[in-house]
Amino acid sequence: MAAVKTLHFDSNPPPFGHEMRKCFSFDPEYINMNHGSYGSLPSPVAEAIKPYYAMAEANPDLFHRFTSVDLIRNVRERMAKFIGAAHTDEVVFVPNASHGLNAILRDFIWEEDDIICSCNTTYKSISKTAQYISDIPPHPENSQFTILFPTTNNEIIENWRTYLQSLNEARARSARRLGRRPKIVAVIDSIISVPGALLPWKEMVKICKEEDVWSVVDAAHSIGQELDLNLAEADPDFWVTNCHKWLYAKRSCALLYVPKRNQHIVKASFPTSHAYISPKKRTGPNFVEQYEWNGTLDFVPYISASCALDFRAWLGGEHVINAYCHRIAIEGGKRLAQILGTEIIDQGNDFQFTLNMVNVAVPFPATMSSDFEIDMAFRRKLLIKKKIYPAFFYHNGKWWTRCSAQVWSQVEDFEVLGEVILEACKEIIDEFGDGSERTMTDVEDNMEKLAVREPNVQSNQEVVCIYS
Ligand SMILES: Cc1ncc(COP(=O)(O)O)c(C=O)c1O
Repeated sequence: MAAVKTLHFDSNPPPFGHEMRKCFSFDPEYINMNHGSYGSLPSPVAEAIKPYYAMAEANPDLFHRFTSVDLIRNVRERMAKFIGAAHTDEVVFVPNASHGLNAILRDFIWEEDDIICSCNTTYKSISKTAQYISDIPPHPENSQFTILFPTTNNEIIENWRTYLQSLNEARARSARRLGRRPKIVAVIDSIISVPGALLPWKEMVKICKEEDVWSVVDAAHSIGQELDLNLAEADPDFWVTNCHKWLYAKRSCALLYVPKRNQHIVKASFPTSHAYISPKKRTGPNFVEQYEWNGTLDFVPYISASCALDFRAWLGGEHVINAYCHRIAIEGGKRLAQILGTEIIDQGNDFQFTLNMVNVAVPFPATMSSDFEIDMAFRRKLLIKKKIYPAFFYHNGKWWTRCSAQVWSQVEDFEVLGEVILEACKEIIDEFGDGSERTMTDVEDNMEKLAVREPNVQSNQEVVCIYS
């Protein structure tokens, strides 16, 4: 079987910090503080995958019919070990987390009175997937769990238990009426996008099991950021991660993990594969086969995951990389909060939600509007004009910035960012006002709209997350 070539390096890596920028292809003037959204490809990985592109073009048939299939099997084996799956054949590649999560959620056979639940902090396109599923027959109920930062892990866990128990009571009432037990499917983030926060997802999965709820874990930010993944032990029902974010694989590369016991749920890959066999005609598994070919796409990003692991080993391995990024996230976040005169979202709770993304409040007045235009203004001012960019989002009545710390980051980057944000805030208030001019009727109108959108959120706790 063809195997992906291991990367060899003749020298030691540059030290972490700005020197490490040599290993990436950034515009020398750009300070990348938003690795979390799209990831960043190391140049050695970009070089290492060139021969695979050459192979694909040298003989497209040979590459697509034989070579890439073998190579990807080889990488799947490595990735399955890396995430602690019990079997290689529980892990397949998909282009991105949205793809994997959609495949799972749409493959359930939904019935009347089933419940699909997500959180107010679920990545928008995934909560919209839940909304869409609920919008079409047989209209399962779309329910939302609320997490408002600042909070604590204990509070989230307790609220989650209470929430699932209340769904279970509703299910028991439906079951008496229908004469069958509806299902409940919960989407849980391992690491939320905004705020960039590690959730106690393993405990949440455990509670799902206790309450007989399917757990679908959106782990888009996990691989490469969350250490010592052991899926066989955590045992979620489904789990999807993006390798093109924190692992440094080439975009588009994600892993879909489905333990063997649940592969019957994922009846057809998305899109449907020529390898699809009708469930009634199956004599064995049909999960991996479908995902080995379900439409022509660029397979080299999948191969790049293996090269990314070699590159990371050269840097010192997972613990060394993440210890540096985490330290810079905390130190940089503190410095930024100091410059802005604000706070880090979990500074009062021992940074229990912070891995390599730190969330710092933006110094706007409390009256500031939550409009998407404000986010767009930050994009224009920082990304285009100032060539420095973290993410911005509105949560629980405030604007925040989510800064990603990476092997190329230094605390000085957060200092530059602080000054740029202060300037941008002044300009934005000049352009858009600080919200204090809004009449009471405007505010009440907004509250009413919000109460319609977020039925389980009290009207004074606005929750609008605007960011990818
Ligand atoms: C939590 C979360 N889920 C899903 C996604 C979607 O990832 P992709 O665009 O690669 O499908 C993202 C992207 O940032 C995310 O942060």
